[in-house]
Amino acid sequence: MAKLTLKDGRIFEVEAGLRLVLALKDNDVDILHRCGGHAKCTTCRVSFLEGEPTRMTEAEKERLEARDLLGQARLSCQILTDGDMRLEPLNTISNSDLDDAGPRPEDNITPDPVWIDAP
Ligand code: FES
Repeated sequence: MAKLTLKDGRIFEVEAGLRLVLALKDNDVDILHRCGGHAKCTTCRVSFLEGEPTRMTEAEKERLEARDLLGQARLSCQILTDGDMRLEPLNTISNSDLDDAGPRPEDNITPDPVWIDAP
């Protein structure tokens, strides 16, 4: 199990090894995932206060670099709940003009993860 603590104080116990975006979504956390979890849109991004994973998928690194977000945010669709984390979702339905979070991401990380050390 892993403990997810949100910046607003909400705490969830979730299974280890889940996609973080799904662990949040399935606990009714407002978070966007507009590309369906394919490391394309960056709307699933979160800011870590504690427990930021030290590994990263290549797809996440490429996308964060392309959007000038490396070092500022992480993509929750590219992260597994492998440990306790304290974080804040950055893009939500309520802070956007959207009325839909996006297609549900698959259970497994897409594209197939190639793990590298987070820079
Ligand atoms: S980058 Fe689009 S849902 Fe994660």
